[in-house]
Amino acid sequence: MHDFQFLNGVLHCEETSLEKVAREVGTPFYCYGRRTLLSHYNVYAEAFREIPNIICYAVKANSNIGLLHELVKEGAGCDIVSGGELFRALKAGCDPKKIVYAGVGKSAEEIEYALKTGILMFNAESSQELFAIDTIAGRLGKRAGVALRVNPDVDPKTHPYISTGLKKNKFGISMATALEEYRLASRMDNVDVIGIHQHIGSQITQISPFVDAVDRLLAFVEKLREINIRIKYIDVGGGLGITYKDEAPPLPKELAREIVPTLKKQACTIIFEPGRVIVGNAGVMVTKVLYAKMNEGKTFYVVDAGMNDLVRPSLYQAHQEIQPLHQPSLGREKVEADIVGPICESGDFLAKDRVVPEFKQGELMAVMGAGAYGFSMSSNYNSRRRVAEVLVAGDRYHVIRERETWDDLIRGEKMVD
Ligand code: LLP
Repeated sequence: MHDFQFLNGVLHCEETSLEKVAREVGTPFYCYGRRTLLSHYNVYAEAFREIPNIICYAVKANSNIGLLHELVKEGAGCDIVSGGELFRALKAGCDPKKIVYAGVGKSAEEIEYALKTGILMFNAESSQELFAIDTIAGRLGKRAGVALRVNPDVDPKTHPYISTGLKKNKFGISMATALEEYRLASRMDNVDVIGIHQHIGSQITQISPFVDAVDRLLAFVEKLREINIRIKYIDVGGGLGITYKDEAPPLPKELAREIVPTLKKQACTIIFEPGRVIVGNAGVMVTKVLYAKMNEGKTFYVVDAGMNDLVRPSLYQAHQEIQPLHQPSLGREKVEADIVGPICESGDFLAKDRVVPEFKQGELMAVMGAGAYGFSMSSNYNSRRRVAEVLVAGDRYHVIRERETWDDLIRGEKMVD
């Protein structure tokens, strides 16, 4: 579900013309629709209403504070993976007691920052990390809420780069050794063992991997009870997929129907970490055709956004729909083309061998489903300024991130005499 549609032949986000935004803000830019964003959040929250829960939005999917603030106001917590994301979550007004912190490589500085802030819990991924948390908490005179991230060894049936819950992945602690790690953690002086965590992957379009993983997790929680470790929080991670092309992922309520009955029996607060499903289809990236060219009979549309602005097609061969901002009038020719960016790499494309309406030079196009892992994965490669981000509310829009300036590019750099 999303709020991008053609009104009078021009693509709008809610009631705002994307052409108008392009005229005023320039291209490329990301545009997010507040109505879609909040409705995705609320549909998710509604689906799991029956069980005590915290929905910790995965900040990595899109970390703009303007957007985080909207979700936080709606009641969301945050799932973070770095000190930088913690900083953003706090700036956006997130209650520290709704923040969970995952990631295999938390530095001492980051652990200290999180302890001083008083986050709900660290999702620890190794015994050395547990020791580090315990030591730093001791030094600061703080107590650290901790969950262990276990690896349930479930195949999420998604792209290998974004599957995280298999034995061969670097994430979490294997179920085989996790009990030992729990024993270890429960003996630590400055650690409160309050939870368990798992996250099996991203863009998951089937229900069964979630169900299998939750079943394994709950069987493990039972084992913890047997050794008298009673936890309060069960964090089942994120990963629910969205429709980019023709995928038919389960709706949050369909997922809930399968997993809520067992989770309900736990007398625990259930934490969810959705990212993509909240923000993915709430955003598009708008770019302009700079040139159309032919090489060896192949059509290339060179646009002003590149892999530095949206890396998913290059990195994961991900499919992102392409829409002209002007509805193609009847009879407009279709061509098979590559949509490529200005970056000096052959891997710089937004779409490959795609049948699209014939574009004219200077025409605008929207790359759909770009709200998640779009801007947040962008870079300055080729010394390109990162683009503007806009949040639409009805017929108004707000620039929630200015386009970078040339000076931004060299901020902090120095020439040595
Ligand atoms: N929790 C943890 C611990 C995670 O590592 C992730 C995503 C999430 C939650 C949120 O997952 P989601 O609900 O968004 O699927 N860059 C890739 C996706 C990487 C996902 C990394 N972890 C992409 O563009 O497809």
